[in-house]
Amino acid sequence: MDSLIIDGGVRLRGSVKINGSKNAALPIMAASLLADGPSVLREVPNLSDIHHLVALLKELGAQIEHQADGSLRVEIVDSANSHARYDLVRKMRAGICVLGPLLAKRRYARVSMPGGCAIGDRPVDLHVRGLRALGADIQLDGGDIVARADKLVGAEIFLGGNFGSTVLGTANIMCAATLARGTTVIECAACEPEVSDLAHYLNAMGAKITGQGTPRVVIEGVEGLTGCPYTVAPDRIEAGTFMVAAAITNGEVHLENVRLDHLMAATDKLRSIGVLVEKANGGCTVASARRLEATVITTQPHPGFPTDLQAQFMALLTIADGNSVITEKIFPDRFLHVAELSRLGAHLHKEGATVIIEGQKRLEGAPVMASDLRASAALVLAGLVGRGTTTVNRVYHIDRGYERIEERLNALGAKIKRINQQELEG
Ligand code: EPZ
Repeated sequence: MDSLIIDGGVRLRGSVKINGSKNAALPIMAASLLADGPSVLREVPNLSDIHHLVALLKELGAQIEHQADGSLRVEIVDSANSHARYDLVRKMRAGICVLGPLLAKRRYARVSMPGGCAIGDRPVDLHVRGLRALGADIQLDGGDIVARADKLVGAEIFLGGNFGSTVLGTANIMCAATLARGTTVIECAACEPEVSDLAHYLNAMGAKITGQGTPRVVIEGVEGLTGCPYTVAPDRIEAGTFMVAAAITNGEVHLENVRLDHLMAATDKLRSIGVLVEKANGGCTVASARRLEATVITTQPHPGFPTDLQAQFMALLTIADGNSVITEKIFPDRFLHVAELSRLGAHLHKEGATVIIEGQKRLEGAPVMASDLRASAALVLAGLVGRGTTTVNRVYHIDRGYERIEERLNALGAKIKRINQQELEG
């Protein structure tokens, strides 16, 4: 297992290109199971989560080739196996997003329940509710979801749960409905940009989807879909992470390939605490030259403040001027970074799904443990400003969602070294 050794105290400067969105690429790759003929997917990031889904899709009969320009050519050549095995899905929860496409295209799917993870339970009851509404017979067998349907039939489906809608649940139902007979209406659909990106790919393959990006999505069933070229949208969470890196180090960074319209809540919050965020040719420039103000953040479904930036903003607010409050409304247990940030000298007080952050003048470097993907990124951000050296262990969590994070931060002036466990133990 690798670790990152970070020497704090550098103000980041320069330019970084934001990659294609992991959370858009995953359901888009899964949706290729619906298609006849090849798709060529561009801007798919080179991440371990993507590699795991490639392995799963190959087991499900996909032929996948990495092209010279970095794009992925995906063609389904064999439909004999429709079982997404536990030891692949447990490594990458988003494997659940093959369920809807497999069921719609092959009338049968066996997909392992994803199980819990570092940020809490990951139920799929809304996925199951939606597919049953389309006429699927769904049973649970040995930890697997077994779904059957001779022909899916369009329906009116409400996808709201206690924590709002479901991103991958909306993806699964939208995919399944593209080949259903008649019209499907999803009420309380997820509005995240990744869902819209998936809908754009499905429509490019011949689907008839409208309303994507709003809580009411309408899908007219069609006879079939044809693979096509598609470019995945920029990763708004990676962009938000690098924006915080610029802000927390009082630096000035230009981000290329950013859709600021996908990041309004985070941008609004950065500006409100004193960070300069300016649109600039296909991206944005983020700069801060002073101590930042405290603020209050509550995570919500899009277009509200994204839960996937909660940990990164907590790291930023640990050195703000005054007391901040963060409330997590999507994954109430998503606070594994609290104990680790406290090891770096942050003053945090957790009360249930709310954390009070007493801003400090500085953080102190220390060894810390990565946990979930975004908590790990928060620890790297804190290490950039910690006095002395911060060692972030179990960096594989970060590699799931950030490509070559230390190389790209070092290109902006950071001082980060990646070492493996043997080197660490000497
Ligand atoms: C997606 O997960 C993202 N992952 C997550 O990003 C992100 O945090 C999450 O959406 C919320 O925005 C991918 O896209 C691969 P949900 P997803 O279903 O779809 C509850 C990252 O860091 N719920 O929208 O699995 C659920 O417990 C990852 O990149 C049910 O109750 O999340 C949660 O409280 C982490 N029943 C809320 O809804 C269900 O059937 C939102 O979950 C499904 C979900």
